Amino acid sequence: MPEDDQDVLFRMLLSTAVDGIIVIDSRGIVRIWNESAQKLFGYAADEVAGRNVNMLMPSPYHEEHDRYIENYLGTGQKKIIGIGREVVGRRKDGTTFPMYLSVGEGVLNGERIFVGIVHDLTSRTMTARRVQDLQSELLHVSRLSAMGQMSAALAHELNQPLSAIMNYINAARRTLANAKDPAALRASELIEKAVAQTTRAGQIIRQLRDFVEKRESARAPSNINLVIQEALILASIASADPNVTVTTEFEPNLPPVMIDKVQIQQVIVNLARNAIEAMQAVNLRKLKFATSLSPEGVLISVSDSGPGLAPEVAGRLFHPFVTTKEKGMGIGLSICQSIVEAHGGRISAARSEIGGAEFRILLPVASED
Ligand SMILES: Nc1ncnc2c1ncn2[C@@H]1O[C@H](COP(=O)(O)OP(=O)(O)O)[C@@H](O)[C@H]1O
Ligand SMILES: [Mg+2]
Repeated sequence: MPEDDQDVLFRMLLSTAVDGIIVIDSRGIVRIWNESAQKLFGYAADEVAGRNVNMLMPSPYHEEHDRYIENYLGTGQKKIIGIGREVVGRRKDGTTFPMYLSVGEGVLNGERIFVGIVHDLTSRTMTARRVQDLQSELLHVSRLSAMGQMSAALAHELNQPLSAIMNYINAARRTLANAKDPAALRASELIEKAVAQTTRAGQIIRQLRDFVEKRESARAPSNINLVIQEALILASIASADPNVTVTTEFEPNLPPVMIDKVQIQQVIVNLARNAIEAMQAVNLRKLKFATSLSPEGVLISVSDSGPGLAPEVAGRLFHPFVTTKEKGMGIGLSICQSIVEAHGGRISAARSEIGGAEFRILLPVASED
């Protein structure tokens, strides 16, 4: 094939490719950047060419990407090259989206280059199955903890009437103790059955509670930024309501926290869902996830631009069965609280700087050993 034709063909390949194609050099500088990539990230060709590819990544990848490349060039250890994986991209307007990135390696004029192919997962056809699996895991945990929460609340509520019943039964027993007529004897028999059943009711509630509380929790030192980012992808938070602008402000290089990842993701997803539900009442819909380091631990905040907390529930938000929604169960936040407290952390609610509500979670930093 004549060289001119090859050139045309190459350019055509780039411009017609459905997936984004991004070629970087060994310093991470973008050399080639096709039309699909421009559309995906919202940057024009000249806004990215010659700049560091990390501008297309949210924290913590943004800060760590140069090191990833250096690491690879130094050790030859392949983390993503030739493999590909699901990662998060950052658009020009600051929003993030899930994408599948595969990276190949080549040599151009004696210099090493990396070719990245970016497939948008927002429509999530490709990884639908995997996401589904993980989502059902989340759902499972949510059911478990919902059950735990419900049974704890039920046990609490039912204990009083149950002991009142027991007292009445005991009084009836005493009243009939010396009676001789057949009707009274029959009544005594029935009363003994009532005692047995009442005792059983108490046991059932206790067992249910024990069962849920004994669920093993798999804790490991984790990077909270990644855990949050993954939760947002798994629960399709960005696509739950296309009118919501989701942003993240992650502090890089946070110390690891010792958490059961799935449980903490459950908390994040619960808070995000509540925020999105609350924002249905307003036109400007912003949802922000931020992390930072405080003297007491790692701080996560989830803030929205919704109507804020209704005064009538503000003081009891974390109690079970507190809801302002017609079809609400009112247990989401109480689950969040029990998960966070089981991790030795704290959760609180306040007014957010962007107008609506802000939920803050403090998690202790994982100890050295
Ligand atoms: N982001 C938020 N903005 C305003 N109100 C909220 C927000 N999150 C929670 N709430 C309030 O807290 C209540 C309890 O929330 P939750 O425990 O998740 O139960 P549910 O979502 O079933 O109502 C909600 O009904 C709502 O009134
Ligand atoms: Mg809720």
